[in-house]
Amino acid sequence: MHFLLDGDPGHDDMLTILLAAKHVEVVAITTVHGNQSLEKTTINARKTVELGGLQHIPIARGLDRPLVNEPVYAPEVHGKTGLDGVELPDPVVPLSDLTAVEMIIAMSHEYDDLVIVATGPLTNVAAALRIDPTLAGRLASISLMGGSLTFGNSTPAAEFNIWVDPEAADIVFTSGIPLRMFGLNVTRQAAATVKELDRIRDLGTPFARTIADLVEFYRANLERVYGLKGASLHDPLAIATFIRPELFTMKPMHVGIELHGTRTRGMTVCDYRHATGESELGGKNAVLRGEPANCDVAIGIDVEGFFDLLTDTLAMYA
Ligand code: BDR
Ligand code: CA
Repeated sequence: MHFLLDGDPGHDDMLTILLAAKHVEVVAITTVHGNQSLEKTTINARKTVELGGLQHIPIARGLDRPLVNEPVYAPEVHGKTGLDGVELPDPVVPLSDLTAVEMIIAMSHEYDDLVIVATGPLTNVAAALRIDPTLAGRLASISLMGGSLTFGNSTPAAEFNIWVDPEAADIVFTSGIPLRMFGLNVTRQAAATVKELDRIRDLGTPFARTIADLVEFYRANLERVYGLKGASLHDPLAIATFIRPELFTMKPMHVGIELHGTRTRGMTVCDYRHATGESELGGKNAVLRGEPANCDVAIGIDVEGFFDLLTDTLAMYA
């Protein structure tokens, strides 16, 4: 399999890139607006590849605003730069001449087993699917961090990546492409507390200390904003599933994106009924008339196994 990482770095997007690069073949990184402006997330992607010595991976600049909404950023979580906590050197690695949409389409022609790992708003992916209607048939799958089987973070119902660009998410979830969804119901469990960060710091390399300091900034913000004790490492789960699939429990179900609700716009409406086979009225599947499953939704995670994978991988960097 070949992987294209589409995201809005962001502390946890950064970890996704670093995790992926040591275990799978990453053919491109594409950037999108989200945690910060496109300008800033693109700089952060370039800083990340330089930090990890991954300059061979092409980076393509994506779209700077959602399909319909006005852009919304998350400085309260990721800081002014989108990757606050350590001042990394200004990057020199050049950007690709292709746009993100062109890169997605080009890579789908080059590799017949291309997986997109999407860890930001789905604007680039949706735009590529719109521009090239044959793209859906060429992608092996999309694994994404977004949504939730339970609660939201941007609103009570909606998670940030979906809420920022629900129309894009709708295009992806109705595309027919095999999907894996890692929502807040599992990603909040992957919480790096001071203990996990000390374990990373104790790897003893300057690289590990830099990562621990960056994630500590993010952890402290999540504690301040949401009262969380640990830094939710949302995004890396979308690639970890390909490295250590046994860490996750997945259930196929239908997921629809709410576009109109006054309180629920951007919600991932997950039809758990088929996943459980239970019906409120008793008989198994007696009255269920839901749509067929379009997504494998993560419902469980081996948190300790995930942190072992992450720490062991970070130890592979100098
Ligand atoms: C998502 O939003 C961003 O803050 C993170 O990078 C993650 O992709 C979590 O809601
Ligand atoms: Ca992200």
